[in-house]
Formats: sequence, structure tokens, C-alpha cells
Amino acid sequence: MFFCEERNVYKQELSPGTWNSYRILRIKGIIMEDKDFLLFIQKVNQHLNIDLAQYKEAQMKRRLTTLRQRRGHDTFASFFDAMIKDKEVLHEFLDRMTINVSEFWRNPNRWEIVEKKIVPELLRTGRKVKLWSAACSTGEEPYTIAMIAAEQKGFPQVQITATDLDTGALEKAKRGVYIDRSLKDVPPLYVNKYFSKQGELFAVSDELKKNIKFEKGNLLTDAFDTNIDLIVCRNVMIYFTEEAKHKLYFKFSRALRTGGILFVGSTEQIFSPGQYGLEPMDTFFYRKVADV
Ligand SMILES: C[S@@+](CC[C@H](N)C(=O)[O-])C[C@H]1O[C@@H](n2cnc3c(N)ncnc32)[C@H](O)[C@@H]1O
Repeated sequence: MFFCEERNVYKQELSPGTWNSYRILRIKGIIMEDKDFLLFIQKVNQHLNIDLAQYKEAQMKRRLTTLRQRRGHDTFASFFDAMIKDKEVLHEFLDRMTINVSEFWRNPNRWEIVEKKIVPELLRTGRKVKLWSAACSTGEEPYTIAMIAAEQKGFPQVQITATDLDTGALEKAKRGVYIDRSLKDVPPLYVNKYFSKQGELFAVSDELKKNIKFEKGNLLTDAFDTNIDLIVCRNVMIYFTEEAKHKLYFKFSRALRTGGILFVGSTEQIFSPGQYGLEPMDTFFYRKVADV
């Protein structure tokens, strides 16, 4: 039996995957603080298929510790039991770990590249084009893509898939009803054409809804589709460890068609994109140029 003295962690108590993640984190100097949290990570992985060890530990632990304490649990072990017994606690946990903040046209000048360059170029090919909003949260991002495509008469040539880990966020995305603040960056032309007012709220048009396929998807564990023309994956990779990001960039690259584009968030530049067969196309956009 391998015993890691400074942390009181027994190897045989952990699954090979969790033990491995633990070792990687230690090698990288990011030390897990205690066995209680480590075992919580393992149980969450077994029961929910979410590997918290692939998220930056300090941020994740801070968020979950606040929640655990607010719920009156001294340990993650008792917090986990409560999560399994009570759906409300489980949903609160999922809410806390996923962070669903999103906006339509988030960083508007980046969306101009999609609107003026990428989508027109794809439509000119005349073939079916596949767009994927990965970690789409409550839908603002895929609806932004859909508005751009609709405005350029892109349907049915354009197929949009939108995925997220959080089924609660996906339900909201499918409903497509938003408060006015979410629309602050939507150009007025698009507000008038693609939203209708429902009291104080705004509902996206059926035309947009019917052209997006919403599905549950875990970026860290799922196999991806292939021959995708545009992957929009923004403001989720910041939560992942370097190791998890590295693997994900390879997976994205393999999912793209040669010439396809990966659009990342405004704090998520890829260092040495060449190793993933990608090259910068514009700020926060990478084009696949080689198979990896
Ligand atoms: C901050 S939101 C980003 C939403 C949108 N992409 C944007 O930039 O406005 C992060 C989203 O990532 C999702 N997420 C977190 N981990 C994930 C994973 N492993 N696989 C898929 N989605 C994940 C969360 O559920 C959340 O909806």
C-alpha cells in the first residue's frame, strides 16, 4: 500500500484515475489539501461522471467549501451524502461548480469576425456546414450564432449543435426566454427580428429554436463529432487544469475539418497552437491547418 504521509492519503482508497490526477497535481505543485476533499472528488466522479480533478483546484474548492459550510456540513463526506439524498442540494452543487454566466454577443467585436468573415465564407462553399457551441450554458451563445446564420439565409445549410454539462442550463436554453439585460449587446436589428416581448421578458423566435440541437455533453469525457466547421468554446476552459486543456485542444483539433475554426474566450489564448495543428486566424480564433 502506498501512503502519502503529508496528506494522509492511501492509494488503495482511491480509484486509479483519481490517484493519477492526484499525482499529476502534486507533480505540478498543486497539492490537494485533504483526503476528505479528495474522496469527495472520487465519489462525484463515480456517481455523476464529473471529474473535478480536471478543474483548477483552488477556485473549485473555494466555491464548494462556501456552499458546504452554508449548508451546515463540517466535511465533504457528509455534504456528499446530503447531495445524494436531496435533489435540491445536488442542483445547488451543480450550479456552483458550473457557473452559467453567459450573454448574447459576448465581446461584440469578436462576433463581427463570425458575422462578416466566417459565416459568409462557409455559406459560399455551398455544402452543409456544422457549427458547435460547446459549453453553451443557457443558450445565449448558440442563439447568437443562429441569428447570424438566419440573417444570412443560412438555414438549412447550417446545422448548429449546442452542448453543456448542466441539464438545468440546457432546459433554460431550450425555453429561450431572457431578461432584457441579457440582450444589452444584441444589435437592434436582431432584437426586432429574432425576439418577441413576453411581458418584461424576451423570447427568441421559433426559427432560431428549431435550428439548434441542444444536447447534454461533457467536454472532458465525451468523444466528439468530426468535420466540424466552427467550434465556439468560450469561458469554460479557464476553469480547467493545464493538463485537461491540453487534451481538450487535441480533441477540438481532431473534431475540426481542415480549415475549420476554433473560437475561444477572451482570456483563453492558446499557447503554441501549432502543436495542435492550429494557427491564429484572428484574435481568439484559430484555424485548423494540419492533422494531429
Ligand atoms: C461561464 S459558462 C460559458 C457560457 C458561454 N460559453 C459563454 O461564453 O458565454 C461555462 C459553462 O461551461 C459548462 N461546463 C463546465 N464544465 C463542463 C464540462 N466538463 N463539459 C461541458 N460543459 C461544461 C457549465 O455548465 C457552464 O454552462
